[in-house]
Amino acid sequence: MKCRKCGAKASVNMRQHKLALCKEHYLEWVPEQTERFIKKYNMFTRDEKILVAVSGGKDSLSLWDILVRLDYRADGLYLGLGIDGGIGYSHESQRLTEKFAAQNHLKLHIVDIEKEYGQPIPLLSDISHRGHGKPCAVCGLTKRHEMNRIARDLGYDVLATGHNLDDEASVLFGNTLVWEGDFLLRQGPVLPAADGLSRKVKPLCRFYEREMAAYAIARGIEYIYEECPFAAGSTSIYYKELLNQLETTRPGAKLTFYLRFLEARKNGLFQERENRELNLHPCSNCGQLTSAPDLCSFCRMMEKVRLAE
Ligand code: AMP
Ligand code: FES
Ligand code: ZN
Ligand code: ZN
Repeated sequence: MKCRKCGAKASVNMRQHKLALCKEHYLEWVPEQTERFIKKYNMFTRDEKILVAVSGGKDSLSLWDILVRLDYRADGLYLGLGIDGGIGYSHESQRLTEKFAAQNHLKLHIVDIEKEYGQPIPLLSDISHRGHGKPCAVCGLTKRHEMNRIARDLGYDVLATGHNLDDEASVLFGNTLVWEGDFLLRQGPVLPAADGLSRKVKPLCRFYEREMAAYAIARGIEYIYEECPFAAGSTSIYYKELLNQLETTRPGAKLTFYLRFLEARKNGLFQERENRELNLHPCSNCGQLTSAPDLCSFCRMMEKVRLAE
């Protein structure tokens, strides 16, 4: 395989795009594509302040790296979840995130959930009896809530996460299997700002997971290889495997599934639902928008935790 741009030996072959590139041209191609997506979906401009949620994994560290290389004003946010799993998961991911920030002279905010709320994620999950023995539901809820809170409190215009195409296609697949209307209406590269919530963007949503791994490795970014120890056996991983099987026989199927969904929605697939008022109002405690009657799910969970103490 030869690089399409220079004819040298290709180091990344992307069957899904019928494109092979050498390392040097790959490292140019990724930011070029990212810039194209940022513009296409009106994610943000160079005047805006961006908060990148960084987990220490390949996607979010690469995202931060790309945005900085593209001259965007991007600071980082790391959430200390207090997950050990026998591999010091949170500890190691924090170390790698701090190392990346220091090496590149970037500003990193660190919020430790245990310091902030008295308990690490696994104990918040046990105490609140949410998620049936697995902390992932509480973890997801808490991460969303904290990212929104910090972005708003620190005055960032936009919050960026490292979700890649595999993440997005797997969520879309799960929501489509049961036709989750509200989720299908909201899933996408950009979630506009609303009362108390910053705009949320996913600049990597069109990159395959292996494209991001190749980028991180080519850039020499040190990231945590391990998945969260609680992720094993999750439905989202199962859906990713299914979609990868499909992708093996039909290269590009994953991307088409996601892009055609965005297109169909733009063309009015969910119009009727969109017109109906989404019944959201600010949580009476934290002010973030919620469809629950009074407190948002996060504040309800924390109330339960407090009562149990
Ligand atoms: P996940 O939900 O683990 O698939 O992560 C999706 C995205 O959420 C990542 O790409 C990051 O942008 C963000 N994220 C996940 N975990 C953390 C964390 N501990 N601190 C900050 N951001 C995170
Ligand atoms: Fe939150 Fe695994 S339970 S990252
Ligand atoms: Zn080349
Ligand atoms: Zn709340």
